[in-house]
Amino acid sequence: MFATSRQSAFAILYMSALMFIGPFLHVQYLHISHHWRLAPKGVYGDTAMVVSAHRLASEVGREVLRDGGNAFDAAVAVNFALAVVYQQAGNIGGGGFMVYRLAPTNGKKADTGTLDFRERAPFDASRDMYLNEDGEVIKGLSLKGHLAVGVPGSVAGMAALHKRFGSKPWDALIRPSVTLAAEGFVLTPKAAREFNRFQEVFAEVNRHRPPVLKEGGWREGERIKFPELARTLETISRQGRAGFYEGWVADLLVDEMQSGGGLITHQDLAAYVPVWRDPIRFSYRGHEIISMPPPSSGGVALAQLLQGAETYDIAALGHNSAAHIHLMTELERRTYADRATHLGDTDFVAVDIEGLTGRAYIAARNGDISMQAKTDSSTVKPGYVAAMESAETTHFSIVDAAGNAVAITTTLNGMYGAKLVVRGAGFFLNNEMDDFAIKPGYANQFGLLGDDKNAIAPGKRMLSSMTPTLVEKDGKLKAVVGTPGGATIITSVFQTLSNIIDFDMSAAQAVHARKSHSQWQPDVVMLEKGTMSLANMRGLQARGHRLYPYPHFKWQLGRVEAILVHEDGTLEGAADASRGFDDWAAGY
Ligand code: GLY
Repeated sequence: MFATSRQSAFAILYMSALMFIGPFLHVQYLHISHHWRLAPKGVYGDTAMVVSAHRLASEVGREVLRDGGNAFDAAVAVNFALAVVYQQAGNIGGGGFMVYRLAPTNGKKADTGTLDFRERAPFDASRDMYLNEDGEVIKGLSLKGHLAVGVPGSVAGMAALHKRFGSKPWDALIRPSVTLAAEGFVLTPKAAREFNRFQEVFAEVNRHRPPVLKEGGWREGERIKFPELARTLETISRQGRAGFYEGWVADLLVDEMQSGGGLITHQDLAAYVPVWRDPIRFSYRGHEIISMPPPSSGGVALAQLLQGAETYDIAALGHNSAAHIHLMTELERRTYADRATHLGDTDFVAVDIEGLTGRAYIAARNGDISMQAKTDSSTVKPGYVAAMESAETTHFSIVDAAGNAVAITTTLNGMYGAKLVVRGAGFFLNNEMDDFAIKPGYANQFGLLGDDKNAIAPGKRMLSSMTPTLVEKDGKLKAVVGTPGGATIITSVFQTLSNIIDFDMSAAQAVHARKSHSQWQPDVVMLEKGTMSLANMRGLQARGHRLYPYPHFKWQLGRVEAILVHEDGTLEGAADASRGFDDWAAGY
């Protein structure tokens, strides 16, 4: 990355100085000129790569690949490993989406597709289940505890993808996770901090003492073990899908629900099915983008944003200049307004995907964008915006030796989901029900609005923002990208792809470049620390934008896990290392 070791030493000195001096000078929101050029180096490999939210999970995946497993085998192993070492989002009690690409064989073109293993509303769920007699939202009910939980899809999803594409025995792929849970692993500073941050809520929500609770809190370097989770994983490793949706694990899950007024029954578990869906495909400046269709809004929104951006010379605007962020904000305003109104689970409601992602529609929709002044969102439906909770999702990207690629984003929704651990089975349950529009016009924890199309119905999937995405160029794989971050997932993936395609950044630069976010309502531009110079901030204000340097952006935005395939076939893995995260790229 750096031409000489002198440049590299300078970069390290420069970054260190900024880290220490910045806060004292109150410059933390100021632009570090082209600081993405000083991004930590990506990890390079010429054969295979895994990038995930935790070093141990990435290494488990890399060993599966080294051992001759394919990207799908590695995905199963990484997914279960994250459910142990990264419990704030890695899960068996939640759900997610996979976008995949099968490398071309025997002269055939590459095949792409998606798997939807998103949670579903229990059969006893109903449209107004979070409202009181006056029709007001009962605060917290869709976020914490038993009633917040959707029917988990992760284990069924992993079983389905393994059945279709796996090459290694299922139990061998789960074994590393059983060992990690049984023998324990050492807490990183971040993992210890996060377990400690939620001690009170864990104690409040659970009617037993889950192993994450600890008198006096956890310390960095301590070993933590999860014997109950190990037993659950061992059962799944022997019995496959049935080890979760039937038998003693299912019994304990249903008991847990009944003990606290939750809705999930044996019938819900038995009926859960993941769904293979066609991806959203569109082109962007000569690249083919492949992303997730509804029930995620990710692919549709990404198609609207990138195809909207394509009519402008983005590179000429200058990265994170006032004009650049202004334009992105205007595109995002219109896209998120569409998201709130038009998108929902296509198994339940009609969504005009072709119309919404068509170039003619997008051109007309963006036709009133002025580069001189912002459009006002306030003329559109106003929304109550709750303070954003810390929210977590997690993404991992994998490329194997044959060139197969997997992008999986999976989640419990909020950090540790409903904060509820199944007694005796040791895993966290999601609070994904909050991703429904629990009342029209009432913002969810990400400030996102929704309407009828995303209303609760029995068996329906809640709308998501998860955006696992692949990029091809000239028929060859170019990138695998995705991120956590709730509502900011879509805009982070948008900016990362534009960074790679418009600004010719490496994977590491694209991941570490500072990002902005806007979502129609609230009508503000959120700025991550270090995104803009004062002059550019003034340029945005002069166009009428209200700026919001969001203090918790480090939890919310831009934690992208990317793999870039360079022209010579070298793989570059980039995990976000700049914000104190444990994310890790492992390749060979
Ligand atoms: N729970 C976050 C999302 O699916 O968008």
